[in-house]
Amino acid sequence: MAENPSKYYVTTPIYYVNDKPHIGHSYTTILADVLANYHRLLDVPTHFLTGTDEHGQKVQQAADANGITPQEQCDQTVVRFQELWKRLEIKNDDFIRTTEPRHKKVVQETLQELFDKDEIYKAEYEGWYCVGCERFFTEKDLVEGNCPECSRKVDSIVESNYFFRMGKYQDWLIDYIETHPDFIQPAFRANETLGFLKTKTLQDLCISRPKSRLSWGIELPFDTDFVTYVWFDALINYISAVGYKSDEEQFKKWWPCSTHLIGKDILTTHTVYWPTMLKAMNVEMPQSIFAHGWWLTGRTKMSKSLGNVVDPMAMIDTYGVDAFRYFLIAEMTLGQDASFTEEAFVKRYNADLANDLGNVTNRVLNMISRYCDDKMPAPAAADAGFDTTLEDGLWKDAVAAAEQMGPMIGNMKLDSSVAMVMTAVRKINVYLQERAPWSLAKQEGSEAEVAHCLYTAAECLRVCAALLYPVMPEKMRALRTALGMADATPHLGKLAEFGVLVPGSAISQPGALFPRIEAKKVDEASSLVKDQQKKPAAKAKKQKVEVPNNGLITFDQVMNVKLQTAVVLEASTIEGADKLLKLQVDLGDEKRQLVAGIALHYTPEELVGKTIVVVANLKPAKLRGVKSEGMLLAASLGDTLKLVTVEGDLGPGAAVK
Ligand code: MSP
Repeated sequence: MAENPSKYYVTTPIYYVNDKPHIGHSYTTILADVLANYHRLLDVPTHFLTGTDEHGQKVQQAADANGITPQEQCDQTVVRFQELWKRLEIKNDDFIRTTEPRHKKVVQETLQELFDKDEIYKAEYEGWYCVGCERFFTEKDLVEGNCPECSRKVDSIVESNYFFRMGKYQDWLIDYIETHPDFIQPAFRANETLGFLKTKTLQDLCISRPKSRLSWGIELPFDTDFVTYVWFDALINYISAVGYKSDEEQFKKWWPCSTHLIGKDILTTHTVYWPTMLKAMNVEMPQSIFAHGWWLTGRTKMSKSLGNVVDPMAMIDTYGVDAFRYFLIAEMTLGQDASFTEEAFVKRYNADLANDLGNVTNRVLNMISRYCDDKMPAPAAADAGFDTTLEDGLWKDAVAAAEQMGPMIGNMKLDSSVAMVMTAVRKINVYLQERAPWSLAKQEGSEAEVAHCLYTAAECLRVCAALLYPVMPEKMRALRTALGMADATPHLGKLAEFGVLVPGSAISQPGALFPRIEAKKVDEASSLVKDQQKKPAAKAKKQKVEVPNNGLITFDQVMNVKLQTAVVLEASTIEGADKLLKLQVDLGDEKRQLVAGIALHYTPEELVGKTIVVVANLKPAKLRGVKSEGMLLAASLGDTLKLVTVEGDLGPGAAVK
């Protein structure tokens, strides 16, 4: 981000109210909050919208299961989201519910307008319908007769419905995405959308549901026998909430949206349905749609049925709001999947927050208390008469961190930005160790030097606290107050000026900002990952292979394994197997199919063209019913996995020895 934008409008998906919120919902909302905070602190006019998606089959089914009306289901569940956002210190400017009149009115007016313009027409539909995904599919779309998205059973359907002429925008959309590289982010998600648009014919979108099948929705203004398809209704929230068709001035102020934050699960609806809808409505496109990855429990997708969903409320109760927010932002590289485990949480908390940030805060404040009588000391004048090289260097590093923050946020490198601030924090610790003010203080006439040392350390801490404020507002407010600052809210624009802390102002001890988590507490903590422990340790115990000679194998045994280079020709996902990818590879003299458990680490597109190493003489086997004729090699450490590849341009069929 070269310059600050003139305004910033950020949205989260609106969440279904069929169930209470979990860590995934929390993540997108915290992410939006951090970005909104950051822009607000730069004095950029900011609008942050979140809300709930209250219509459709999912909500109706949940209501039926709970024996209440859909409206009661919405009213009961929306509170859980709102309460959680409050606890998580989420400062959204608006919260939209799609059952609100302000939204319904805009949806109906939009439908009428599109119907009048012949962008919507009625037709008989014959095909397949997936209740879980609430989507229609043609015969061709089905995978082994099941839903191509979720592999569940689909129902055969023949009915009249209303359709939006989405198909006619196919070429326009391809061109728009290609000429607006920032429109869909990260770039590989734009390629994913383009891949789909360039290989399939874009169908018109069915935007109605007959009331005989589903009554919980917004009634079509031109045919009261139908309600609106939930996605057509939901996407409009992004404009209905900011005055579309109701408050022109407000709409002009905020639209186009700066960033729609979404999870990768709802890419198509946001990068195909939404842009074509806006185009038909003659409304400007949003500036960007950013899809983040999934939070996994360990390596497994979180799902209610697996019982491994992380409950955000339990995390906050045990470890505090700011630590939870910090972990989520620091741990996930935006765009990729990330793994949530309590062990990783505690490790990062103790290392970054308790050790580094907590420690440096205590040291600086304790020493100011001891050597400067609880008052902020004064910095030295330019001609101090002593060497200030170390202090000048420390301050330069803090300024560099402040300057890099903007570009990092602009490029959605939130995890790196937090890591960068933590490096600056560690530098203060290293500096204190080197400068040793406790020894300096023992020397006669060293008061000015000690004062300059502690003042500089405190100034650097002020900068770090301000940069971390969007992520940990509560703790960073406490830290600023402890540094004697009257204004608990920082202004990021003025960060890099030296001398903001006021000499003579009273400092205070904030107590332990981040008390260390002892291993005992982790053991005692209730299972935050629900029911995870109840799962059997391993479904199938691997057969123990006898390896003689204390684990050493002979040269001959190594030579028995035929390793060869292969080039990936095609790669695709396997229905119902989240971790597996199916690859077609060229082994030089033959082509083969491999199934590999790398789907959590590589997208199919990333793999095509790569030269990999495979075990070529492995007995073929079936994985999830799909034939695999070999095994590829990959290196893994913790949650990271990288393919073994060969350097240079060797091509397929080379022996690897
Ligand atoms: N109602 C639709 C969105 C309509 S937007 C116009 C919907 N709702 S949802 O309740 O299912 O929420 C989906 C969103 O929640 C994802 O896109 C993502 O932002 C977040 N997450 C839910 N589970 C998640 C993970 N396990 N990990 C990360 N985020 C995920 O879809």
